[in-house]
Amino acid sequence: MALIAIKEVVSPEELRRRVEEARARAHQSDKDITTSNTPDSSNPSDACPHGCIDGWIVDGWTGKECVCQQQRRLNARLQHAMIPEEFEQATFDLYRTDTSVQANMLKCMRRYLDRFEDLLKQQQNGFGFLAAFGEARLREMRGEARARAKAQHNNFGLGKTHLQIAAAKELLRRGYTVFCISDVAFMDELSRARAYNDDGAVVSRLLESAIRADVLVWDDIGKAKPSEYRLDMYYQVINERYKAKRPIVFSSNEDSETLTERIGDAAASRLLGMARGNTFAVEGKDFRLTGGIQQ
Ligand SMILES: Nc1ncnc2c1ncn2[C@@H]1O[C@H](COP(=O)(O)OP(=O)(O)OP(=O)(O)O)[C@@H](O)[C@H]1O
Ligand SMILES: [Mg+2]
Ligand SMILES: [Zn+2]
Repeated sequence: MALIAIKEVVSPEELRRRVEEARARAHQSDKDITTSNTPDSSNPSDACPHGCIDGWIVDGWTGKECVCQQQRRLNARLQHAMIPEEFEQATFDLYRTDTSVQANMLKCMRRYLDRFEDLLKQQQNGFGFLAAFGEARLREMRGEARARAKAQHNNFGLGKTHLQIAAAKELLRRGYTVFCISDVAFMDELSRARAYNDDGAVVSRLLESAIRADVLVWDDIGKAKPSEYRLDMYYQVINERYKAKRPIVFSSNEDSETLTERIGDAAASRLLGMARGNTFAVEGKDFRLTGGIQQ
């Protein structure tokens, strides 16, 4: 928390002027940030419950940042995290553990978060939910065998995305920047941006966001239709994060073998290597169809 320490003797007027200045600087650096749920002193009816003036509390000889500013910054990080609307409500509290699969998935994710700060220093700091039986494998099967495999090895609607987003929110709360991408949407956006006549500016910006965030949440990795360009994009993002030891929290409907076919050997080796010890093959009942109840 920023504290303005006043060492010399200054008049209250001068102090107020300095607080005003600091506030203006803070506003300037944050002006691209939307503050949807936070008090905005330009609208007097929207007053902060702590009684601050634009995020600052003048207390005797010191000007102190108001606690509402932490909430404002969290909101800003949330805003930049690209959490899909469908999962805005997804939290650990709302995750039901009626089945052993659900209970285990929740346990794995929570254990990862408990160890997160220690893992950050290590090369193996990622996390992944994989399928026990990859979607690509299923697609190659026909008839009876396919129907059997599909019934036996469901990977859809298990709550992978729900838990990933709940984890993203927890990490945002801890102060990390998190960037959430959905594989198909991200790859589509990159492909579209590639066609812009802008010297690759938008492509670079997209890659930059995925590479620089403290944590990258990559939903459904390997779902987009592969192409040479996409293999290159997978490699670029994953390799850069690998080199910088920045974690990727991912989920996929593929198993480790079919995922490798979808995103390429070099990318998969790094992604899976980073999540070694924290990669879980999951299958079970589709929550969308069953409401998660064991049948
Ligand atoms: N255990 C659970 N408790 C509460 N809600 C759940 C649970 N599991 C899944 N859901 C909800 O069911 C829906 C499907 O879950 P989710 O999208 O997380 O599954 P998924 O494993 O990511 O599936 P897919 O592979 O199809 O993307 C979501 O709306 C999610 O919030
Ligand atoms: Mg999902
Ligand atoms: Zn305040």
